[in-house]
Amino acid sequence: MLNFPKTSISPERRRMNSIAVLTSGGDAPGMNAAIRAIVRYGISQGCQVHGIMKGFSGLLDEEIINLSVSSVANIIQRGGTILKTDRCENFQKKTFRKKAAAVLRNNEIGGLIVIGGDGSFTGAHLMEKETGFPVIGVPGTIDNDIAGTDDTIGFDTAVNTAIGAIDRIRDTASSHDRIFLVEVMGRSSGFIGLQVAMGGGAETVILPEKKESIENICRTIERGIARGKTSSIIVVAEGPRPGLSARIAADLEKKGHASRVCILGHTQRGGSPTAHDRVLASVLGATAVYHLLSGRSNAMVGVQRDRVVLVPLAEIIGKRKVVSSELLKLAQVLSI
Ligand code: F6P
Repeated sequence: MLNFPKTSISPERRRMNSIAVLTSGGDAPGMNAAIRAIVRYGISQGCQVHGIMKGFSGLLDEEIINLSVSSVANIIQRGGTILKTDRCENFQKKTFRKKAAAVLRNNEIGGLIVIGGDGSFTGAHLMEKETGFPVIGVPGTIDNDIAGTDDTIGFDTAVNTAIGAIDRIRDTASSHDRIFLVEVMGRSSGFIGLQVAMGGGAETVILPEKKESIENICRTIERGIARGKTSSIIVVAEGPRPGLSARIAADLEKKGHASRVCILGHTQRGGSPTAHDRVLASVLGATAVYHLLSGRSNAMVGVQRDRVVLVPLAEIIGKRKVVSSELLKLAQVLSI
């Protein structure tokens, strides 16, 4: 079970009376559960909570709404984000970050919670460094690629969605004796790919961290055929841009192995969050409020070895979290 601070924040210890929350970058199932926790825990501590629409772009456009206990009712089970999200290029520029802090101050908001990934945290970190405006990050991305935390909101749901799809694909793959390449998200990191390959019992997995030659993939397929396997599932992590699985399929065809390709794409970003993601989002969201109101800033709430921790943003930004090479080896051993 995750931990949560024993004490609540007394009015004397509370450093601000009004905070705001925004979601930024790719949406992730569980973001709504985090928003709900931030609003309800914040209000329970005597604080007013605002929602900023469309991430940092909405902040620059001053799209700020007041959130009440009832405005976050009935959202814990919903995927996506009620606050909408955006990838804001302008926030990479100092002038826009200064403007954002000014917008927050003009609206008498004392601190900001950013739910997002590494790119969003970079903007938040720079804004606090340049303007002194307090920020706390909550890790929300299906990729689970943020350093300083073992888990991110949305990862578990995305993995389960992909495994559900693989179970279905297996039915048709085995009926037709076919090879299937199933492409999963994760950009340049293989956390989704590895977890999905292990949980879906894939015959092989291709990750940004573990590139395979076509010859090697063919050897795996042929070894399976020699053992009497008539179908195979190959999990392909998309890498920098989607479509890698189609390129591999074309190369396999040249080597005499026809296959079918299924790119799961954005289906992994949608859907109702799993219980795991709902609880994770609820605890991290409330903990973020706790630290912000207590005067902490420029840090992310995360999970390390099942404990909720606060990690300085400066320690995690731009750092690469790596998939476990032992688990990767185990996935290979089990797929034989
Ligand atoms: O970062 C989350 C993520 O879903 C990645 O896995 C994927 O590569 C990317 O976002 C897709 O982004 P967009 O929805 O902007 O195309």
